[in-house]
Amino acid sequence: MKRILVIYYTQSGQLKEIIDNFARPLRDADIAVDYYRIEMEQEFPFPWTNETFFGVFPESFLQIPQPIKPIPSSILEKNYDLIILAYQVWYLSPSIPINSFLKSKQAKQLLEETPIMTLSGTRNMWIKAQEKINLLINKNKAYLIGNIALTDRNYNHISVITIVHWLFTGKKDKYLGIFPKAGVSQKDIEGATSYGKILLKYLKTGIYNNLQEEIITQGGVQVKSFLLSSEKKGNRLFRIWANIIHQSSHRKLLLKCFHVYLYVAIWIMMPIVWVFYYLTYPFFYRSIRKEVKEVKRIKNSNF
Ligand SMILES: Cc1cc2nc3c(=O)[nH]c(=O)nc-3n(C[C@H](O)[C@H](O)[C@H](O)COP(=O)(O)O)c2cc1C
Repeated sequence: MKRILVIYYTQSGQLKEIIDNFARPLRDADIAVDYYRIEMEQEFPFPWTNETFFGVFPESFLQIPQPIKPIPSSILEKNYDLIILAYQVWYLSPSIPINSFLKSKQAKQLLEETPIMTLSGTRNMWIKAQEKINLLINKNKAYLIGNIALTDRNYNHISVITIVHWLFTGKKDKYLGIFPKAGVSQKDIEGATSYGKILLKYLKTGIYNNLQEEIITQGGVQVKSFLLSSEKKGNRLFRIWANIIHQSSHRKLLLKCFHVYLYVAIWIMMPIVWVFYYLTYPFFYRSIRKEVKEVKRIKNSNF
């Protein structure tokens, strides 16, 4: 009997719902599916406050791990045919819980020589975080065989408004009765079953060569080209901010400045850059298409 482990961290439960739908065809086919939710020694709050939300920025971005509770021995003792790593993105990086897990000694024990499939449920900026996850998978001597990236498909600025409402109140409802619900749509959450069906086929043979292509065809990797270019710029600027704040003795003040900066970046700079991006789009059409194709694929798979 094949055995799969799902390693995940979620606060609202959205990601767990996605995983449950994804894993259904596997469980129906009598594949043993174990779950391990990463638990922090010091949990992060949900809903968030301004202070806690911006307070995690430097350590999220710089990928500084924090203590996690030991992984249960019932999980560590088993050998898995495949591990699903389901994660959130915090500030264009893997969230602190998933990063802390991937940098722990026990992660190496669990992941080494094992095929890994990643699955993320984010607002819409996940590409830089996936690159960072890929590096950590490699460091743990594991192999990436597939990636599913589900996002909020609404317009970027709408998703900013709705996610703030969601993360700061804990309510995934229609903000003011007029905005769409935040996060991954219910249709996409339920549609995760189709990727589980695809994986099942490949799991039987253990050869995953075309798995990612099928996931892409099925719409399992959501990329918007403008956001891809924004992520690259954002990642460079976040690095500067994160290093300055992390080393400073004026952390509180600088976090407030970062808050203002983020507001200006999203509401003033991004729309201006957006206009220039689409004015020049026809000139870069080919290279943009090529890049979008590349990020949908998994670059460092050894399979
Ligand atoms: C501190 C913080 C930073 C986040 N940064 C990003 C980000 O850079 N890109 C993104 O697409 N989503 C970002 N999100 C959204 C999360 O990836 C995720 O979709 C959301 O927290 C809900 O996760 P959950 O339902 O699994 O709890 C962020 C969320 C938090 C709490």
